[in-house]
Amino acid sequence: MKPYTELLDFKTLGDDRGSLVALEENYNTPFAIKRVYYIFETKSGVRRGYHAHKYLKQLAICISGSCTFLLEDGTTKKDIFLDSPNKGLLIEGLVWREMYDFSEDCILLILASEHFNEDDYIRDYDTFLKLATS
Ligand code: TYD
Repeated sequence: MKPYTELLDFKTLGDDRGSLVALEENYNTPFAIKRVYYIFETKSGVRRGYHAHKYLKQLAICISGSCTFLLEDGTTKKDIFLDSPNKGLLIEGLVWREMYDFSEDCILLILASEHFNEDDYIRDYDTFLKLATS
């Protein structure tokens, strides 16, 4: 699977009571969802992630607060700032990711295409670079 990242816009349904975003599998999510997890109460100054995945597809949504993703495909690096519940960062293929600058109120929701599998992780940066550039 080729490395691919994209910032998706979700339609916000709103009325005078407030806002709502609905995510429906394979309709406005680009893959079938097998797992949902969320990262919250991240301590100040913490940087996490530091891995790539072999097959996993993920959609990251900052449903509260903000944080930044560093994404690297082996040749280019980019930083994506997430601060909106109606934006989703799609990450597919071999992409190194680090997350940082979590606001105190950050809740980072992740939709994932597979169940948790440690064997799908590449946690060593040099191994990632070798695979990404081979
Ligand atoms: P990890 O993926 O290393 O966190 P991050 O990349 O966001 O810094 O996960 C932290 C720990 O939680 C690790 O021991 C694996 C475990 N974990 C699960 O058991 N299930 C999951 O779905 C996830 C994402 C992590």
